[in-house]
Amino acid sequence: MSGFSRTSNELVCDGVPLSAVADAEGTPLYVYSADVLRERYRAFDRAFGEYPHRLHYALKANSTLALARLLHQAGSGADANSIWEIEVARRAGFLASEIVFTGVGKSPAELACAVPLGLKAINVESAGELARVEAVAERLGSVARVAVRINPDVDARSHPHISTGLKINKFGIPFDEATTLLVSLSGRPRLKLVAVHVHVGSQITTLEPIRRAAALAAEMAGALQREGVALEYLDLGGGLGISYDGHRVPSPEEYASALVDSVRATALPIVIEPGRAIAGPAGALVARVVDVKPRDGDSDFAVIDAGMTELLRPALYGAFHRIEAITPREASRRRYEVVGPVCESGDVVGRDRELPRLEVGDLVAIHDAGAYGSAMASNYNRRPLPAEVLIDEGRWQVIRRRQTIEDMLALETHD
Ligand code: LLP
Repeated sequence: MSGFSRTSNELVCDGVPLSAVADAEGTPLYVYSADVLRERYRAFDRAFGEYPHRLHYALKANSTLALARLLHQAGSGADANSIWEIEVARRAGFLASEIVFTGVGKSPAELACAVPLGLKAINVESAGELARVEAVAERLGSVARVAVRINPDVDARSHPHISTGLKINKFGIPFDEATTLLVSLSGRPRLKLVAVHVHVGSQITTLEPIRRAAALAAEMAGALQREGVALEYLDLGGGLGISYDGHRVPSPEEYASALVDSVRATALPIVIEPGRAIAGPAGALVARVVDVKPRDGDSDFAVIDAGMTELLRPALYGAFHRIEAITPREASRRRYEVVGPVCESGDVVGRDRELPRLEVGDLVAIHDAGAYGSAMASNYNRRPLPAEVLIDEGRWQVIRRRQTIEDMLALETHD
């Protein structure tokens, strides 16, 4: 059985006991299932059926080289959000023509590196950025392939920090201004407009905002077609949510048919940039209990060796991640505030959780941590970045070793 499941008294990943991996590699530790990653990729790929499409995995969710390589081998393209993610993508095997470059604040240095690469598209976020890309292309005597990100003023109804489609958000060009700008591009020979791009947020759990944004991108493409501007595809972004807490979320099929229905009239191929929906369920953060102490009459604190430095989502967004004892020790249960070791009261990994009784040394798994987990880890409190392990066909491999104090200090002046 692939993914994370229970045998009699053990949590296993692709058949490998997590306790064995934790004992060998130490904690805190990210563990990923290669099977789940491939299966999530294939599920989205299959969901579009015959309709022309391409997935560009959003590396920002998790760009650990081995995972990027695995998804490339599965057939994915890449969405990179910085020149450094582009570099990771290239080292993972993606061709420049398989990479779209997104992001709201591309620096002059990033653009100077990106334009000559011949990427599938630079997804441009403003009229100013278009002019900067054009100037680089002019200087190089080349033509830059660009997609223009529209801001459709659509509410993704996700957490405000990760909703991007409203006028008040910093992303994209307002729909009304975009039409004139896009039509004017036909007179600018250094820019080749290849797509309209839209992305209204992340962890979106209803199809309505996704459908609405796609329909507006299609409307824009239609207006351009009428002006004689032929696009190559529509880039409809990422954003589909996953079920962290067991609530139903749209399936890949429902998602794909919402997109296809919204844009079919344009006959344009669809590009999507899923991150979380591919990587999220493929990973768990494994941690060890380092202290248990009374909290109030009804609950205890379980202090674990992973916190906001390893998984920032609960502290930053109040995000919920399921927590499970890896080898539960007895039937009796207790309420726990599961907290990290960092010197902040906000460093809570799981609020008010009922778990089998925990003791110091016990292992817990924090689920659905494959996306925006290790990618957002930090060295706060001088904590080293955790190790990462990929389990593939019953064997595990360390794909990123734990950072050492030497690694950290290597960047600093020593005397
Ligand atoms: N495309 C663009 C232009 C994006 O900005 C993003 C995510 C994606 C694609 C991928 O979205 P996904 O399919 O993963 O939802 N740190 C936050 C999520 C931030 C998302 C940023 N942009 C979290 O932990 O929830």
